[in-house]
Amino acid sequence: MQPGVLPVQNPFLDPLRFEGRVPGVTVVIFGANGDLTKRKLLPALYRLALERRLPQEFAVIGTSRTLMSDEQFREKMRSAVVEFLENSSFDADIWDGFARGILYQPGDLRDPASYTALAGRLGEIEQSRRTGGNVLFYLSTQPSQYELAAAGIGNAGLARGNGWRRLLIEKPFGHDAASARELTAKLHEHFQESDIYRIDHYLGKETVQNILALRFGNGIFEPLWNRRYVNHVQVTAAESIGVEGRGAYYQEAGALRDMIQNHLLQVMATIAMEPSSTYDAQRVRDERAKLLRSIRVMNPEEVGENAVAGQYGPARVGGADIPGFRQEPGVEPEAQVDTYAAATFFIENWRWSGVPFFIRTGKRLPKRVTEIAIEFNSAPHLLFDGHGTVAAPNLLILRIQPEEGISLKFLSKQPGAGMTLRPVSMDFNYGSSFGERTPTAYETLLLDAVLGDATLYTRQDMVEASWRVVEPILEDWANRKFDFPNYPAGSWGPEKADAMLARRGHTWRQP
Ligand code: BG6
Repeated sequence: MQPGVLPVQNPFLDPLRFEGRVPGVTVVIFGANGDLTKRKLLPALYRLALERRLPQEFAVIGTSRTLMSDEQFREKMRSAVVEFLENSSFDADIWDGFARGILYQPGDLRDPASYTALAGRLGEIEQSRRTGGNVLFYLSTQPSQYELAAAGIGNAGLARGNGWRRLLIEKPFGHDAASARELTAKLHEHFQESDIYRIDHYLGKETVQNILALRFGNGIFEPLWNRRYVNHVQVTAAESIGVEGRGAYYQEAGALRDMIQNHLLQVMATIAMEPSSTYDAQRVRDERAKLLRSIRVMNPEEVGENAVAGQYGPARVGGADIPGFRQEPGVEPEAQVDTYAAATFFIENWRWSGVPFFIRTGKRLPKRVTEIAIEFNSAPHLLFDGHGTVAAPNLLILRIQPEEGISLKFLSKQPGAGMTLRPVSMDFNYGSSFGERTPTAYETLLLDAVLGDATLYTRQDMVEASWRVVEPILEDWANRKFDFPNYPAGSWGPEKADAMLARRGHTWRQP
């Protein structure tokens, strides 16, 4: 066999199919004319259909204010799926079958008549496609409209029915702990907490889920997974893109709110949480929540030392002129918004006391890469020092994207005379090991919501705990006048972020 070619009988290459029974359901997408629907939701649903994971008794109703017929909506979604389908080819036959269950219902979120019309449509579908009356309401609208939509659904009697009714919402869940609590109170007027699915798509990423498999499915890592052996942890979520036409939203959000409050704190919780006794929604989420509550909330005086804001300025990158954030459409010329955020967090528990977790994220950084680097303490005494040995700490790198995998870096003897040590890497690569296209986060999460599995969804207490962690930073930044822009597009962020680590004797890894 040629080197590098996997044997056909490799069990990893067996198709990994979900064996359970997926119930019939109608997914109602509010905000169906928006970006998320075409970029993520419809491609994910189509992909599930392609893999035959959806039952026959399945339908999608798109709704938004735009007037469109079912046929026009289907056509629009077909083009979107062709354009945004990742790593698979479009199959026209599968599409035709899937598209028969796609419908469109124009409606205004403020108009009760729109919900009555929707109710009529749902009733017809329940009969014609035998969905059992199960409905997943997906709010892909402006966050300011969540309460309105939930109330409209509830007041029209749609939050109850023959089957189950669930509400799925996208972040941001409020803009601080108090508003997150208020939003929940409003949603609870119509839906129980157990029927509310708050999506954090990072939790649906295969490699984020694999952190738990790595930690709790193996015996060798967990004994080292604590303050005695771990020196520090770095979490990097770098993006090379800018704000991509979302200047107006981003101007209100900023990187700390957009990425750290939700995605990266969830990732940190997954790395640091205690094992749950079983893998079920309640227990796994209890452990994540407990961890989030254990993150030390900074005093106002600590923010300057432990958090760094950045904003990209214009630069010439790879022969192209890249505008600065303030030159993006919809952004004010003096905007004080962070397009880069970094912070040092500590966890106040026995396992992690004193171990810094450095988190950073930014737009217009040199490349798209998300990874977790766990640096272990060095050997207490290096026998081989003084023989050209390159000192390098043991690192466990969990790569979330784009090349998904895990690497362990350690020192090895360089061949030849003497004892010279060099860092080497032991690599596991998701793609080549499993030979399967990994499902996108939206595929996983949509299917889970239909199956009623909330393990990978965030919960109200987790959302509030994360807001509490970032609130002192947000407050400090809101009252500060930054000297922005402070990093050129295409660079690794502001110098202050390097200084933040240097103060503790560390440097950022170059992923
Ligand atoms: C979204 C943010 O939640 O996550 C975006 O609003 C960001 O600003 C995106 O680009 C990153 O997601 P991914 O899956 O591309 O890493």
